[in-house]
This record gives sequence, C-alpha cells and structure tokens, in this order.
Amino acid sequence: MCGIVGYIGGKPAFPILLKGLKRLEYRGYDSAGVALLESTNLEVLKKKGKVSELEKLTETKTYSSTIGIGHTRWATHGEPSDKNAHPHYSSDQKLAIIHNGIIENYGALKTELSEKGYEFRSDTDTEVFITFIEDIKKTLDLTLEDAVRIALTKVVGAYAIVIMSTEEPDKLIAARKGSPMVIGLGKNEYYIASDASPIVEYTNEVIYMEDEQIAIITRNDLTIVDTKDVPQKAEIHKLDLKLESIEKGGYEHFMLKEIFEQPRSIADCMRGRLNATEGLLTLGGIRNYSEALTNAEKIVIVACGTSWHAGLVAEYIFEDLCRIPVEVEYASEFRYRNPVIREGDILIAISQSGETADTLAAIELAKSKGAIIFGVVNTVGSSISRITHEGAYLHAGPEIGVASTKAFTAQLTILAMIALRIASKKGTISESKYRELLVDLENIPAKVETALKSDDKVKEISSLFKDARNFLYLGRGYNFPVALEGALKLKEISYIHAEGYPAAEMKHGPIALIDENMPVVFIATRDSSYDKIVSNIQEVKSRKGKVIAIVTEGDVLIPKMADHTIEVPATHEALMPLVSVIPLQLLSYHIAVMRGANVDQPRNLAKSVTVE
Ligand code: M6R
Repeated sequence: MCGIVGYIGGKPAFPILLKGLKRLEYRGYDSAGVALLESTNLEVLKKKGKVSELEKLTETKTYSSTIGIGHTRWATHGEPSDKNAHPHYSSDQKLAIIHNGIIENYGALKTELSEKGYEFRSDTDTEVFITFIEDIKKTLDLTLEDAVRIALTKVVGAYAIVIMSTEEPDKLIAARKGSPMVIGLGKNEYYIASDASPIVEYTNEVIYMEDEQIAIITRNDLTIVDTKDVPQKAEIHKLDLKLESIEKGGYEHFMLKEIFEQPRSIADCMRGRLNATEGLLTLGGIRNYSEALTNAEKIVIVACGTSWHAGLVAEYIFEDLCRIPVEVEYASEFRYRNPVIREGDILIAISQSGETADTLAAIELAKSKGAIIFGVVNTVGSSISRITHEGAYLHAGPEIGVASTKAFTAQLTILAMIALRIASKKGTISESKYRELLVDLENIPAKVETALKSDDKVKEISSLFKDARNFLYLGRGYNFPVALEGALKLKEISYIHAEGYPAAEMKHGPIALIDENMPVVFIATRDSSYDKIVSNIQEVKSRKGKVIAIVTEGDVLIPKMADHTIEVPATHEALMPLVSVIPLQLLSYHIAVMRGANVDQPRNLAKSVTVE
C-alpha cells in the first residue's frame, strides 16, 4: 500500500514523478505529494485526494529540479489530509522522506524526540521516522546515508523509503524492509519506485532491492549496502513489461479491460506449459520439489481475498483429482494461530501482487518450520516470488484495477495444471480423463470469450438491481467459492452488502433474509450438484426472492424458475469456475458504474496490501 517514486538524473523530475504517481495510484489514493530541490530549497507540494488534485495545485507552475521524490498514500497513521500527506520533512526542513509501510515503535520514538524538544506537524509515523534520522544525523554528525543506516537498526516495522537532503543535493537514499522497491537504471539517471510501472517507459534494466538493503544513489553511481554497511551485490534484471499492458487501451476502466483480457491472459498462462494434443503439461518453475508435491500427505494453501477464493477452488480440485487432503487458510489467521506445520510439509501461497503482508508472514512462518513453499504469483520479481522455494508465475500481465479479475482466472488455471500433473503422476485419474481435462483446459479461453458475450444482458440485469441494498450469492461444489468471489466483487466496488454462501447452508439462517426485495444470484451450472441447486432455487422462489441464475448453455429447466438467466458454455465441473465467474465480474462492474462508484479505485482499498 502507498506508492513511492523517485528520480535523479538530468531531466526535469516533476513530470516523471507525476506520471509515476498516476501509474502507482492503484496502490493508494488518499493523498499525493512530491518533494523537489528548487535551487537549494526543498519544495514540498502535497494534497489530500487523488493525484489529479496535486496536478491542479501545480498546473500553473514549472519546476527545474532534476531530483525528486513522490508519494501516493493509503492512510494508516492519521486520517487522509493535507498535513498527513507525504512527503514529510524534518524539523529543520532539510530532509524530505516518502515512506510505504508502518513504523511500529513510532510512539516510543515520538515521546523520546518530543522530550528533546522536537515538534510534529502531522499524525504520521513517517514524520517521526524522518525526525529520528535528523536527530541521529545532528547528534552524531553523520552523513545522510550513515544516519539513515543507524536509524534503520533501531526502527521496528516495515518500510520502503526514499530520502533527500538540501545538504547533500545530489543524492537519494533508498531502503526497504517488507515493502517492495525497484530501481531502474538509466544513463546517468536512476528511477526508484514501488513497482516497475513508473520505470518501464524509460529503461528495462532494474534491480529489485532486498530487505534491509540501503541504496546510495547519485546521478552517476549506485551503491548498495546492508544495515551493517557491508557492500551488497546487485543483480540487474531485464523487465518483461510492456507499456500497453499498464494503460487502459481504450477501455473506460482498467477493470473492464482486465475482464475482457481474460481469454488472452488464460491462454498466456498456459502457453508453453500445456499441449493437450501431445498430452504434455510442463511447469518449469516446479522441478526440484516436484516429487515432494506429488507425494504430499497434505497441502496447506495460504492466501487473502480473491486469492483465497482461488485456493478454495483448488481444495476441491486437489481433493477430487489428486486425493490429497487440503487446508485453505486465511494467511492473516494462519500466521497468528500456532499452526501445526512439520518439516517437509507442503504449503502453496497464492498472491496476485506477491507483496501481501499477511501472506508473506505466513510463508515465513511455515518456512521457519521446514515447510516446502510453492508460490502462485503474478508479479514477477515480487517478494513472495523470491522467498518461495519454487512456483509458477501467472503470466496474466499487470492487474491494475483494485478488484482482482484476470488474476483469479489465471490462478485457477495454474492450480488446475498443478493438480492435473499430480493426478497424472499419482495415477489418481485415468489417462483418458487426464487427456480429456487437458483438452477442456485448453478450450477455456474460447469459452471465456463466449461467456463475455453475455455483457449486454448482464448490463440490462444490472440496471434492474443497481439500487438493491443487499445481495445473496449461492453456489454448491466447485461453484461455492465462485459465489464468495461474486459477493466480494460486488461489495468492494459497488459498496452493496453481499454475502456468498454454499446454497445448502441457506436454510440454516440466510433464508430468513429472503423477501421480494432480495436479489439472489445462483451459480447453477450443470454439474454433480445440479438437481440439488434446482431445489434451492425453488426454495428462494417460494419466498418471493428475485433469482438471477448463471446456467449452462441450453438449460431449459432453470430459466422457467429464475427471474433472469445468464448462459455460459459447458465445461468439466472442475474448470467451471473459470467460466462461471465471468458474468459475476461483469455484474459487479456494471452495477458499480451505474451507481457512480470509482470502479478502479474503490474507497478505503488499495491494490497491494502491504500492511497487516
Ligand atoms: O495480491 P494478493 O492476491 O495477495 O491480494 C489479496 C487480496 O488483497 C486481493 O485479492 C483483494 O481481496 C482484491 N481486492 C479482491 O478483488
């Protein structure tokens, strides 16, 4: 959460920072700000609200500084306001800082600094952090990098920071622990950012900073040390990111673009891995621990949000096809509840961003107990991808809309491929079923394409229900996690209360909610629980609930009972979530747009949840 960007080089820094902040805005949009060195003064410009507010504030001005830092905030300490916006500066106004993360011992530091006479203008932990650095620098008479290094050994928490100083005007100091940071290498210039999106149009050479590393950056030089001042080797990576993939490409919102990208993103995810004609399934990233995975006595899956829903679908697939017991855990619960993990246990961590703090912590915990960790991650080079033993990237391309869509279907695709590989090796499914499922999987992009054709119908249905105050989403078997995912999508972008339930659980409580005003979305495709869910639809209809049913093409029974039906193509039930989720993504999107909500940047949320 929070996006940080920095530049040092020969070009005017301000336009680079502003553009970078727009690219990073999905990480938080409570306020935005920049700090520049104009002649010898620190110019700090910041504003509550989106980057566009900062842009308005600065539109009549020009800035010549060729060094600067910028920040887009997701508030933790202190409400969203001008005064709490970053950058923050030291009490003598000589140092400016941008910070993504939380300093947990800021209270004690603040008391200590207040007793020394320092005063604070904001409610943030970040201002305490920079004042602490200022105090160390002055008391011990240190260079900026040494003061930062010593401060970092005394703070507790997570950070990605960039600091600049009027006294050392040709230098940026950057450091990270637990929050992401990438440095882009240009010719006599460097770019620093939370992810590669602000960097990609200038250079494709990057260094991913590791935890507890500090970078001392001048126009001509980059030195990386650790907190003990030991020089660190940095590996230069080539970025495999296209500029088009982080732009809207003619769509009104990133979310809509990402929904419609799914036939391609699912195909990209399978590319070079699956060949149904040859019966081949290759996952290059899962090699060394492949035997351990195949012979696992149990698999634990950890994730959050939508990724957790993908984990639930995986539980059904792994148990069904591989006959391996699976536990799916919220990473935030797992990390704090003393779970039983033994040496050699298998843990799969699922994350789009690869930076989710709770998932990272859950991995670290399991790793410390000797578990073998597999990652199912979208963002290349992210923290999770680097701390797992093995894994598979989604190759879905950057997902920018806060509501996860194409990452979910790519996660399901990877997890299905892993399950099929295990099942085939273990012989828990027959060769013919294996082959059949490979063909079905290969056909999924075309089926998703067909499911997307329901867009106009979904839009029409959305207009009828856009003012509803509540929604129920019901599904059984493989479609139960899809019900949870549909409800989450609606909640997060349209702010309508929605609950997902296993359809059969309805009669144990939620049925009391049903009346003529309650829209109930049934995910009722033809599968092994079809007859049961038909009965559940009748139970809702007899209580006058309004039924919107997602059904398999050609279903003639449910359309007679439901108020509205949306058809999706048939596929094997284990793969159906890849298809049945599509109309639910569209439903939440259209309802949110009709309610005037900010679809790509829903209130209170951020794309990458790097705080616990
Ligand atoms: O990046 P991750 O997949 O680890 O993120 C997990 C959740 O924060 C994420 O799925 C969140 O629930 C989405 N906003 C859902 O659309």
